[in-house]
Amino acid sequence: KIQARTAIRGCYITFEGNPFLVPPEESLMIEEDGLIVMEAGRITHCRPYADLAPTLDSTIPVTHYPNSIISAGFIDTHVHYPQMPAIASWGQQLLPWLEEYIFPTEARFNDSAYAEAIASAFLDELLRNGTTTAAVYCTVHAQSVDAFFRQSEKRGTRMIAGKVLMDRNAPDNLRDTAKSGYDDSTALIQRWHNNGRQLYAITPRFAITSTPEQLEMAGDLLARHPDVFMQTHLAENMDEIKTVSSLFPETTSYLDVYAQAGLVGARSIFGHGIYLQETDFQHCHHAGCTLAHCPTSNLFLGSGLFRLFDATQPNRPVHVGLGTDIGAGTTLSMLGTMGEAYKVSLMAGGERLQAIQAFWLATAGAAQALKLDEKIGRIAPGMEADLCVMDPAATPILAQRTAHCQTVQDTLFPLIVLGDDRCIKATWVNGQPVYVRP
Ligand code: GUN
Ligand code: ZN
Repeated sequence: KIQARTAIRGCYITFEGNPFLVPPEESLMIEEDGLIVMEAGRITHCRPYADLAPTLDSTIPVTHYPNSIISAGFIDTHVHYPQMPAIASWGQQLLPWLEEYIFPTEARFNDSAYAEAIASAFLDELLRNGTTTAAVYCTVHAQSVDAFFRQSEKRGTRMIAGKVLMDRNAPDNLRDTAKSGYDDSTALIQRWHNNGRQLYAITPRFAITSTPEQLEMAGDLLARHPDVFMQTHLAENMDEIKTVSSLFPETTSYLDVYAQAGLVGARSIFGHGIYLQETDFQHCHHAGCTLAHCPTSNLFLGSGLFRLFDATQPNRPVHVGLGTDIGAGTTLSMLGTMGEAYKVSLMAGGERLQAIQAFWLATAGAAQALKLDEKIGRIAPGMEADLCVMDPAATPILAQRTAHCQTVQDTLFPLIVLGDDRCIKATWVNGQPVYVRP
């Protein structure tokens, strides 16, 4: 008899291949009536209910989710928690938007109590949207990182986060120095990286707000801590790109600015990457880094259209994840973000994103991109038990649209086009229910 703490029963989906490299329907595993057994925060067994139920100790509580689709928890590869209060700010593209709205918003995070309150509200919102892991920018203030990780630790979530580095082209109260940024980041790595489920990301904001010296020191830090992440922004907006090329005349491309500083590695996550050349994609492929595609943000700021299928070309695939990029993004829902990624794929021309591919980008694909695929992103024995339970009939319009879907696979597309936080029936983290829809 299996000894375990808890189990859930229902239809679940998970990946056994990459739908950008094999036919999508071959990559997805659908278990129509499954049982997922969890113990000590991990999945121990997952099989058809009929196979597994007879072997299960009758004292183990089983939570049944009929008429649902259970997935690995979503992974948001690019988001700014301190920008939640500035979401939906009108009328500007990237650089003036940062100056007018974002810098004043981030300046408040020198106050630990305020930072902790926003971090708490933000994490609750992630869980309400079925997101269980995110790569998160804090602010320039070290206390904004402590506040975030304390709140993540409290919920048992696996989060990646870091202190923003910026030592130029920002207001006085938001600048560090190359030295203080390095020292603060070192202390935060020691305090939080691999502390429970928390992971650190060295976080130079972008090339405009860091001196070459600061980028260089960030590269040194990454070399000293090769298992930490690095996150920054790349080639998001045309005015940004012009400014970068005038600030770094000695470089061949925007990506090259980061490469020269030693910041382009397998655990590097670049937000956006809208305006990249073929040579940049090749560089990313060889480095094994990740591009975080943030469709709602790119539309909201009028930044441009990410060329997903150029990035993922099978002869030199670049890892891609999806990001909500709050506060430039307009939702924390990964379902909504998948739906917008579909629309952007149409606008960008070429191949059209399929629903199965979108779910891969939000789960197993992101986990593989982040080198966390032995821990998260799939429903399989040994994986950490982070799950989201979706309701494909959450709203009247979804209910009528999915009522006549013949298969689970057929419900996935309406779910990403029409779905949002209302579709998340429950979220499990570390083998525990942390959110239940009222
Ligand atoms: N580039 C530099 N900083 C930011 C930011 O906060 N948001 C977005 N979308 N792009 C950036
Ligand atoms: Zn961003």
